[in-house]
Amino acid sequence: MFSLNTLLSLPVFLSTTIVTFALAAPGGSPQGSDGSNGYIDVDKKEPFLNYATSLTGGEGCRDKDLKWIRDGFHEMNKLFAAAQSPDFESECEIEFFGRPYRISNYTDIITGNLRRAAQYANLQGDKLRNSDVHVRCDDPADVCEGGSKKDGKHPAYNIGNEPHINFCNRYFDLDPLDEQVNDESGNELSKLALGRYTNRASLWARMVMHINEVGKAIVVKPVPNLQPNATREWTVTTATGAMNTSIISGVVDDYKTTPGPNIRTFKYAYGVTRAKLLATLSTQTEYDALNNAENYALYALARYVIQQKGFFPNIPTVNFGNDMAVLTNDQSMEYPSTV
Ligand SMILES: *[C@@H]1O[C@H](CO)[C@@H](O)[C@H](O)[C@H]1NC(C)=O
Ligand SMILES: *[C@@H]1O[C@H](CO)[C@@H](O)[C@H](O)[C@H]1NC(C)=O
Ligand SMILES: *[C@@H]1O[C@H](CO)[C@@H](O)[C@H](O)[C@H]1NC(C)=O
Repeated sequence: MFSLNTLLSLPVFLSTTIVTFALAAPGGSPQGSDGSNGYIDVDKKEPFLNYATSLTGGEGCRDKDLKWIRDGFHEMNKLFAAAQSPDFESECEIEFFGRPYRISNYTDIITGNLRRAAQYANLQGDKLRNSDVHVRCDDPADVCEGGSKKDGKHPAYNIGNEPHINFCNRYFDLDPLDEQVNDESGNELSKLALGRYTNRASLWARMVMHINEVGKAIVVKPVPNLQPNATREWTVTTATGAMNTSIISGVVDDYKTTPGPNIRTFKYAYGVTRAKLLATLSTQTEYDALNNAENYALYALARYVIQQKGFFPNIPTVNFGNDMAVLTNDQSMEYPSTV
């Protein structure tokens, strides 16, 4: 195995089979045999970045893909840094996680998830650090091109709730965080539409929430009630587990692709509208929104826009207490799904 310093001094194109990138936060010291600032900085002229977590692997990724991946990772850290200390009484929190009286038992979980996601930005030497993330582009699960016509292709997927992410071609079409935020916030007609701000960093944000050491979700399971004089045969246990993608129930599939009656009555909650529906509809459980990786990514994105631009892009707005109005307003997928 190469040492980290050896890897840092290798050109990226030699490193596509086994690589350990040192990624970063401002303030570290220069590395590399020529005293340059390492990979990121050679062309970006930014301060040396020195994250405690490394991105490893890189199977099937080209040189420029790896750069797009690690730049997206770097930007994700800016998103989560802007999304700490949630105020559960505020509009943004309410729209993405639900009304305070419904989520009062779960606010610690939400806060903890956001904190652990932000921990990637910890400097080396800090004992709180997340595992290295194995990134790749070779689509081992063979699902990159598997999206349906309406859903589009997958931009990325997490493998097994492990720190293991595959980036598909669509990821490389997503724009950098600040470029997207600056462009969209300058468009007076559409600047309140949060979906338009999605970018490579918000996609990364969703992906890390699927990693079991980062995103914790509520897992409720029915178990036989063994109490001798039980009045109910079943009871439920509540525990925490890895975070996946929640389902919107009771929604007829508008884009049915299979013959026969429309029996598919759920949709995966991707996109701004569905993320907000999870938090809004009385038919969803209190924990559906906080169990959904997408909700954290969009919440962090909204907080970042608030921090950078001073306004909350709150469209589509949701109508609490009126399920019918909300459902009628359910639009088609705003951006394609991933696993
Ligand atoms: C919060 O937890 C308590 C104790 O388990 C339970 O009685 C209560 O119904 C829960 N509240 C909500 C809103 O889920
Ligand atoms: C998410 O999926 C994993 C793997 O199937 C499972 O262990 C976990 O319980 C799921 N999480 C929830 C909240 O259902
Ligand atoms: C169950 O019900 C029986 C009969 O009513 C009673 O004698 C017994 O104490 C109860 N057991 C428990 C565990 O409540």
